[in-house]
Amino acid sequence: MVYSRIAGTGSYLPEKILTNKDLESMVDTTDQWIRERTGIEQRHIAAEGETTCDLAEAASRKAIEAAGINVDDIDLIIVGTTTPDKVFPSTACLLQKRLGNRGAPAFDVQAVCTGFIYALSVADQFIRSGSAKTALVVGAETLSRIVDWKDRNTCVLFGDGAGAVILQASDQKGIESTHIGADGAYEDLLTVPVGISSGFERVQAGDAFIQMKGNEVFKMAVKTLGKVVDETLSANQLEKSDIDWLIPHQANTRIITATAKKLKMSMDHVVVTVQKHGNTSAASVPLALDAAVRSGQVKRGERLLLEAFGGGFTWGSALVIY
Ligand code: ACO
Repeated sequence: MVYSRIAGTGSYLPEKILTNKDLESMVDTTDQWIRERTGIEQRHIAAEGETTCDLAEAASRKAIEAAGINVDDIDLIIVGTTTPDKVFPSTACLLQKRLGNRGAPAFDVQAVCTGFIYALSVADQFIRSGSAKTALVVGAETLSRIVDWKDRNTCVLFGDGAGAVILQASDQKGIESTHIGADGAYEDLLTVPVGISSGFERVQAGDAFIQMKGNEVFKMAVKTLGKVVDETLSANQLEKSDIDWLIPHQANTRIITATAKKLKMSMDHVVVTVQKHGNTSAASVPLALDAAVRSGQVKRGERLLLEAFGGGFTWGSALVIY
């Protein structure tokens, strides 16, 4: 039996930090409101000219180093992103060029905050089927470019960053299962309502901003993540107590706490990094994973439950023996 095993992780956050206090001078909000409703204390913002590919490259180089592989070993590159550098080539192709890899298939996956879980799920299928042996899977975003910095309902939530993993074919257990889903009927609850095909003039005019019905998104996120957690456990005939670490999408501590409660998990076994970088969409799960690995929280052989929910709506999970 072939498994995909996480051989190395990496992450990167841009240098510039925007604190809740900084936001107080930009919109009608307070540090206390943001902390109480979201748990976020600060977010990182890409410098002018710094792109999603820059962030992805920095995170990927760290993952490659941690895995102890050569760039030429990589035979699949998938980038989960909603904020690509260009209409085309894909950010995955741009990243491939930067890294100096030639020939591996490279493509982006767009599933907003679930982008990394989708990308991981696809890479896992490639490895299990024997089509790839060493995959670079990245979640990278410059969400600050599509945030309306005058809208207090959304601008306090998001930040920029990237996380990456190297997945390798192994006969030892790694990813046990992935579960992904979507329901496009919820399009209007969380959207950037313009794009290349529907109104490039509005994109050029700077009208391409996140719009969100926060309260409804919150309720759907809690409900759906509860369901996906149940589905994952039952597909693997596991009990809640079999999970060592929950590594959730870092959107909001209240959503994270609700999912942990459903799993009857103490918060000591939940990786929470949202306070440091806000919601970085597709980058959020690999950022949290890398932080937990590098701090020594997560150890080899432990069972991790990764999960995410985002625009679409999309959702997904991955059960992983690290
Ligand atoms: N500062 C101060 N007040 C604010 C702010 C702000 N930044 N933003 C909104 N408010 C006000 C609202 O205007 C409203 O005022 P009103 O009662 O006078 O109308 C009041 O606060 C309450 O607004 P609600 O939207 O009901 O507040 P809620 O408790 O739902 O918290 C939040 C808002 C934090 C956005 C919450 O709904 C949430 O986290 N939703 C999930 C959104 C999310 O995470 N989206 C990311 C993408 S999807 C995902 O990643 C899961």
